[in-house]
Amino acid sequence: SMSNFLSTVSHDMRSPLTFMKGYLDMLGMVGELNERQRDFTEKIAVGVVQMSEMVEKILEAGKLDPLTGNYQLLREPCDVVEVVQKVISNLAEPAQKKSLELTCTIAEGIPILNVDRAMLSSAFTNLVENAVKYTPEGGRVHVEVRLDGHELVFQVTDNGYGISVEDLDKLFKRNVRIHRKEWKRVKGSGLGLFIVKNVAQRHGGDAWVESTEGKGSTFFLSIPLEGANLMGAEPSASS
Ligand SMILES: Nc1ncnc2c1ncn2[C@@H]1O[C@H](COP(=O)(O)OP(=O)(O)O)[C@@H](O)[C@H]1O
Ligand SMILES: [Mg+2]
Repeated sequence: SMSNFLSTVSHDMRSPLTFMKGYLDMLGMVGELNERQRDFTEKIAVGVVQMSEMVEKILEAGKLDPLTGNYQLLREPCDVVEVVQKVISNLAEPAQKKSLELTCTIAEGIPILNVDRAMLSSAFTNLVENAVKYTPEGGRVHVEVRLDGHELVFQVTDNGYGISVEDLDKLFKRNVRIHRKEWKRVKGSGLGLFIVKNVAQRHGGDAWVESTEGKGSTFFLSIPLEGANLMGAEPSASS
């Protein structure tokens, strides 16, 4: 299938990308670069990073796809708060470039959870990245982490364009992108929300969106604590 083919090609692109990155780093060691040379190599580096991110997204989506992947979650004790803080600090610069206010509220008492750290981190990243990408300059993006009953809820609210009613349930499907004239130059693969949905569902949770066109959107990701909470009693075979 197309997605299998993409995964194979993406996998093969990893090592050339790795050595391109390596030689880019070494270029500075060969000797002093002049301003134009530095400018050009920086542009190449941006391209290489973008391409690596695309490749990783394609591989991740392939692994998580219930139709093609047989990925088993790598559950391990994980400080979700730390993961969220890392994701936010990684996106602080792109947010700042657009003069976006990026804020975060984390509830007290979030337990250490037994989750797939890398996958969860990727899901959070995709949601915050989208809010940053699709909210116009000077807007606001707010991340909230809270407990709701027996679930951990991660939510991202922005005051961007919002999403029309007819597009709302398409978004989480593979390769779906919605185009607006304001986003003419915003790049993407349409895999982000597909990854978010599948990460949530593999943990027994879900992902969804609430939005008012013209006002903004809130994306939610919930993970049940049961099965993820190390403190709670795990259902055992004998009981
Ligand atoms: N915060 C948001 N506000 C408005 N639209 C959004 C937001 N997040 C996602 N979208 C819409 O959902 C589509 C799918 O998102 P995603 O799966 O992450 O793919 P990509 O970001 O690569 O386009 C985007 O193309 C965009 O149209
Ligand atoms: Mg995206």
